[in-house]
Amino acid sequence: YLIQVCVSHPGSHGGSTRWLTAATLNNNNKIDALEVLAEYYEFKEIEGPCLAFRRATSVLKSLPFVVQCLRDLRDLPCLGEHTKAIMEILEYGRSFEVEQTLSDERYQTLKLFTSVFGVGPKTADKWYRQGLRSFSDVLTEPGIHLNRMQQTGFLHYGDISRAVSKAEARALGSIIDEAVRAITPDAIIALTGGFRRGKEFGHDVDFLVTTPELGRERSLLPDVIDELKKKGFLLYCDYHASTFDMARLPSFSFEAMDHFAKCFLILRLEEGKVEGGLNSSEKDSRGWRAVRVDLVSPPLDRYAYALLGWTGSRMFERDLRRFARLERRMLLDNHGLYDKTKKEFLAATTEKDIFAHLGLEYIEPWQRNA
Ligand code: CTP
Ligand code: MN
Ligand code: MN
Ligand code: MN
Repeated sequence: YLIQVCVSHPGSHGGSTRWLTAATLNNNNKIDALEVLAEYYEFKEIEGPCLAFRRATSVLKSLPFVVQCLRDLRDLPCLGEHTKAIMEILEYGRSFEVEQTLSDERYQTLKLFTSVFGVGPKTADKWYRQGLRSFSDVLTEPGIHLNRMQQTGFLHYGDISRAVSKAEARALGSIIDEAVRAITPDAIIALTGGFRRGKEFGHDVDFLVTTPELGRERSLLPDVIDELKKKGFLLYCDYHASTFDMARLPSFSFEAMDHFAKCFLILRLEEGKVEGGLNSSEKDSRGWRAVRVDLVSPPLDRYAYALLGWTGSRMFERDLRRFARLERRMLLDNHGLYDKTKKEFLAATTEKDIFAHLGLEYIEPWQRNA
């Protein structure tokens, strides 16, 4: 089966090869060690090694076999200098570098603080430098002001850090479907994110919602949010109105966020709505849990690009944008695709159209788990 799309590039500059990692979910390789190191550099805000470890992780994820010896890593891309940890694990069963990182106080503290909804590496680092090490340190420190998002993050910490199951995602799908159709019966609703890629668990559930009539999507999310509030589902809402400008060229960045209307929500999910019950470890008597849900609402003519962009994974999107720019002289983001040679935007109604524009065979969502 298709695992990697390798585009050899025998140009004058040394015949470089670019890889688009198309990984499935059947990961055969232990990649946790590399993810620890990637995160360590992310917290240090050193982008190079962070990306290198994430890339190496993607490549390992894509392998259809279990890496057992160093020879298995030969000829694989992106596994160059940053594979000392893998080599150590293969040779000694453990990696000194990874163990050292795991016991690093700053790493541990930033990992803890950033696990709170609304707390990014910057805030976590600020608290660390103030000498704070635990949640109770943060919550009892007089000088600390928590914004509304962080307050909600602490309030629902247990629920939000617990994985969302497929059954819970399905139940949320019905809730969103009902709320959106109460506003516009002919709305278009699609599941995106990790669950569209076939994941069994996620940290949230992502949906794309829009209207068949161009422009009418602008008022959709505020109305849906009101509906969810009316029905008692809404625990938290961070709404961002659209700043989308169709004349603007796609971003040069491989990671820029989009300008569509979107909201980051926390919803209340009742036990009775979930087939097989809630994914809760300690069976509490509440009978409900809080769940993170993201909604994005692009205009219909950008639906395919938004769907592709929100299906992820993050690394897959990054690789695809990179491929478009370096191999095809095209700029791709969640809004569209711009051909720099022809100096025009390329229209697409389905994801298949986009892959065709890029000269790639269609890559199924379940193959995008890089
Ligand atoms: N995304 C985006 N703009 C945002 C937020 C997310 O384009 N403001 C995209 C990301 O690039 C990602 C996809 O939406 O590819 C899903 O993001 P996220 O929910 O964070 O990750 P998942 O892949 O769904 O994994 P998880 O199970 O952790 O939610
Ligand atoms: Mn998600
Ligand atoms: Mn995530
Ligand atoms: Mn999300």
